[in-house]
Amino acid sequence: MKLYNFTELLQVAKQRDFKALGSFNLHCLEMLPAYFKAAKATNSPLMIQISTGTAKYLGHKLLVDSIRSLSESEDVPTCLHLDHCSDLAAIKFAMDAGFSSVMYDGSHLPFEENIANTREVIGMARPRNITVEAELGAIGGSEDGKCLAMSDMAFTTVEEAKRFVEETHPDMLAVSVGTVHGLYTGKAEIQHQRLAEIYAATQTPLVLHGGTGVSDEDMRQAVQGGIEKVNVGTEMNVQWVGECQNTFSKGKVNDSVRNFLVPANDAVRNVLMEKIALFR
Ligand code: 13P
Repeated sequence: MKLYNFTELLQVAKQRDFKALGSFNLHCLEMLPAYFKAAKATNSPLMIQISTGTAKYLGHKLLVDSIRSLSESEDVPTCLHLDHCSDLAAIKFAMDAGFSSVMYDGSHLPFEENIANTREVIGMARPRNITVEAELGAIGGSEDGKCLAMSDMAFTTVEEAKRFVEETHPDMLAVSVGTVHGLYTGKAEIQHQRLAEIYAATQTPLVLHGGTGVSDEDMRQAVQGGIEKVNVGTEMNVQWVGECQNTFSKGKVNDSVRNFLVPANDAVRNVLMEKIALFR
């Protein structure tokens, strides 16, 4: 089965009565079957996103081959997306390797430079039927080893989003509206009004980063306000490591390692199923 790009997968999701797609970061290969189990159990298409760190750790070919193979054997329409990447050569490498969607993150650059680079990535992607996520505004917190201090966080403005979309036409736009990457120290304060105004001005699928720790109610409201892709990463890592700490500390060295990993994989499957249920 081919890998779907974001736009194609969103169409499948809508046909199955979902309003948005969760896009779930994969942290290691052991977790992968749990993602497909969650998608199958909820009759949902599946969007898996890979940080540049995970791509380096596992290798692009292993990721593409294993995800394509499971998509086919499990009969789950799947999109393989490169998460946050600001290196144009690395984006091209992922495209050549078979990723069906990519994110170019130029949010740290001056506005005009972000526009120019986003256009360049879209120029590479469109002829290959690969979708492109762009980002405007700065999302705080910690992601793939990089940390943006909360004091440097900058909300996306309606005016800039409108101009950016008119000049680049991305397939989806990541916006900074109050979520942060990683674990929250308090409650996420999502700016729903700003979100609705950005959506009205751009009419482009918007992406909510930092899905971990966002309340179910905020998540549902954000989806009503124009969010069509919700990124969740840290939560699966937290659950998996937490379960492993528990089972590894209780087990013996000659126990099958599988016994240690099954509860962790089940916990990850449950996270995905709970999040997916919010997008109906
Ligand atoms: P969390 O790790 O906070 O869920 O965010 C994931 C994300 O936005 C990846 O781009």
